Amino acid sequence: MKQEVIEKLDGYDEIIESIEYARKDGSDFSTEKEKVAAYIEILHPGRLNLHVKKIVPETHTTKTLRLAAQGRDLPPFQAGQYITLYFDINKIKTSRPYSISSSPNQTEYYDITVRRVENGLVSNFLLDDIKEGDVIESSGPFGTFHYNPIIHDKTMVCLAGGSGITPFMSMIHDIVERDLDRNLYLFYGNKTLDDVIMHDQLTRISNQHNRINYIPVIENPADSYTGKTGFITSKLIKDELVDINKKSFFICGPQAMYNFCLPELHKLGVSEKKIRKEMYGAPLNIWEYPGWPPQITKDDVFTVKINGGIDIELPACRPLLETLEQNRITIHALCRSGECSMCRVKVLSGKVFQPADVPVRASDRQFGYVHSCMSYPIENLEIML
Ligand SMILES: Cc1cc2nc3c(=O)[nH]c(=O)nc-3n(C[C@H](O)[C@H](O)[C@H](O)COP(=O)(O)OP(=O)(O)OC[C@H]3O[C@@H](n4cnc5c(N)ncnc54)[C@H](O)[C@@H]3O)c2cc1C
Ligand code: FES
Repeated sequence: MKQEVIEKLDGYDEIIESIEYARKDGSDFSTEKEKVAAYIEILHPGRLNLHVKKIVPETHTTKTLRLAAQGRDLPPFQAGQYITLYFDINKIKTSRPYSISSSPNQTEYYDITVRRVENGLVSNFLLDDIKEGDVIESSGPFGTFHYNPIIHDKTMVCLAGGSGITPFMSMIHDIVERDLDRNLYLFYGNKTLDDVIMHDQLTRISNQHNRINYIPVIENPADSYTGKTGFITSKLIKDELVDINKKSFFICGPQAMYNFCLPELHKLGVSEKKIRKEMYGAPLNIWEYPGWPPQITKDDVFTVKINGGIDIELPACRPLLETLEQNRITIHALCRSGECSMCRVKVLSGKVFQPADVPVRASDRQFGYVHSCMSYPIENLEIML
């Protein structure tokens, strides 16, 4: 472009002025504050208001909710990440993370696929009370359960159970749509064929794309069923893969699945560093967790004094975060699985049980901070919020 044309461009004088200023005095980023804030708001918004555009029934216990923002694109995400939804149900303010099941190659909407949990507060609310047109408050996308080309092998072996299919669905869309140089084996365990979420879609994709290998595994099959049955055992995995080398393993599903599948992978000789586990909430029976103090029973109850004031009762078997929410005390939470550290509280006196694999920073340990979503009282407590 000719110099005289360039000089007529909008903002030319300001750009020259800022280049001269930067040459003389260095860059002054304070002048970019608003632009930076606008980018942050696009990429990492504090909260989003998502409109329920469409609700699609998937199985007798599961629906997909398509969530979109009005008047803006949604922040981009990596296939495998989750959003956290915020609710006020019966005056209890709470949150739940849901993995995004849709493709990351568009930013018009996020799909979440929700399975009913018996007596579950939020899953039942989403499935029974939420209608198209409703608005739900959400975080932006978060989480580290995604493919990383620097760390992971080109062949991904994914073990899913029940609603744990959701992050893998997004990864599969990504591989197929961008024709990525990656192979994915999906072992997907369910009780019956009727429980399998997106079975037809997965069958179709795997028939059409060599890179995607879909292996449903049905615990209680009908007599006519001809696929794999039982559980996802080391033998079943070995028969399909033949060789476990140069493969990265990913697991997502209910706790029983980790309890069963991790030892099966170890039997095959898969090392821990080759296995990536998605968190799926606090353990259901914490009193059976390694390291739980044997003198504390699941029926024990303690008390907590908060900020030197109110005393409330705390069941030992329930995460501190949940009991606080039940008592109308809201703590900001994202993963509710111990990973993100958003829900930290300071314990001034008394002890909590926090599973050893919760990644608490050394400085937090030193100054008594715990992740309340994965902390269970084992003595009377005094905490500061
Ligand atoms: C990163 C992440 C991603 C997730 N993605 C999805 C997703 O894509 N789809 C989805 O459906 N869920 C997903 N979940 C789980 C989801 O966040 C909720 O925990 C789930 O919907 C249950 O919430 P609730 O309020 O209905 O149950 P709660 O009221 O929290 O629990 C009620 C009772 O059920 C038990 N319970 C809780 N969860 C389960 C469970 N999964 N199985 C059996 N019993 C349980 C509790 O211990 C309690 O006794 C994800 C969780 C995490 C951490
Ligand atoms: S909410 Fe993420 S660590 Fe507790």
